[in-house]
Amino acid sequence: MFSNYTIQRFEGIETPFYYYNLDVLKQTLDACRDASAKYNFHVHYAMKANFNTKVVDMIQSYGFGADCVSGNEVLTAIKHGFGKDKVVFAGVGKSDKEINAALDADIFCFNVESVQELEIINELAAAKGKVAGVAIRINPNVDAHTHHYITTGLDENKFGINTWQLNDVADALRKCANLQFLGIHFHIGSQITDLEVYRTLCTRINEIQEWFEDHGFAVKILNAGGGLGVDYYNPDGNTVADFEAYFEVFHKFLTIKPGQEVHFELGRALVAQSASLISRVLYVKNGLKKNFLILDAGMTELMRPMLYQAYHEIENISRVAGDKENSLIKYDVVGPICESTDCFRKDVELPQSFRGDLIAVRTAGAYGEVMASNYNLRDQVQSVYSS
Ligand code: LLP
Repeated sequence: MFSNYTIQRFEGIETPFYYYNLDVLKQTLDACRDASAKYNFHVHYAMKANFNTKVVDMIQSYGFGADCVSGNEVLTAIKHGFGKDKVVFAGVGKSDKEINAALDADIFCFNVESVQELEIINELAAAKGKVAGVAIRINPNVDAHTHHYITTGLDENKFGINTWQLNDVADALRKCANLQFLGIHFHIGSQITDLEVYRTLCTRINEIQEWFEDHGFAVKILNAGGGLGVDYYNPDGNTVADFEAYFEVFHKFLTIKPGQEVHFELGRALVAQSASLISRVLYVKNGLKKNFLILDAGMTELMRPMLYQAYHEIENISRVAGDKENSLIKYDVVGPICESTDCFRKDVELPQSFRGDLIAVRTAGAYGEVMASNYNLRDQVQSVYSS
């Protein structure tokens, strides 16, 4: 819900734009910090979810680490003040240029996704006379029960190393003098709302850490990845994800040995609720079978609905639903892009809407602004902050 003051403020701003509610962001970060501190768990922010400068600066100020998936994310994290001992570099296809940049930055750890990548990092580290910290990303074959486009931990996914390849990993680690084995890493998918899935993950992590210990490798870091989901259906309800319940699962079911650190890489749960995409109705088109609201924002500003059929609440914040004049009408809410897929949602019930009305697409703080493009040579989407 936006206050009248905020809506009036929006009236004076050119649309479309992302509106960041920094109070919601703070509440979320407070909750995550407190819940993780209870068990001394380490949280790295998955930068890919949102690298808006103000958002990243605030997250950094909480003392979280940074989980990066490109050389540029590594450099951006360091520029924003994340300590190099808190920067990890993941990703299935790290280029030599990116690995070299991360080696030069002396980051804490590479999360390595294949035996070949281990050998390449070793070679590049040797050329610089350095030793690179590595964690092995293992594909635990755990079904995350989420959208198949954002499931990553099954045997058929491209991510991580399958358990049947662990002997090859051990051989490579023994041979590679410029690698220091730090631990094991997992990430089974995103927007996970069924915490049982994490219990299964804990069982797999316990088995796999035993395997490493049995083969003579001390496992210092257990990295359980990210993936905690948020409520997209009720943006004004529980705006903060249930971090307590999430961390409690790991506290209960993970075997944590003395001296071991447990790491997490949360993206969505930290930032999703803090932003909405605000746009205006350009045209109202009443067809024979359908009514369309044509917005000035589309898949170029927020791609999730078009790419994953992701659900976002859509509100006409210029009109109040409920009174007689404003009986609800079903609209297909679409963008201006020349693609049929450029539709936020079909049959959205909204008060009768008019050209110029402000439309909010809620819970858009994660994988929203970062996935914007300039397809159709669109302007870059702007950001507006609550304070
Ligand atoms: N760690 C790794 C290795 C990852 O690949 C990801 C996300 C995360 C951590 C953070 O996951 P989170 O806590 O945000 O779920 N664009 C999609 C989501 C892609 C997630 C990619 N990996 C979406 O809009 O739903």
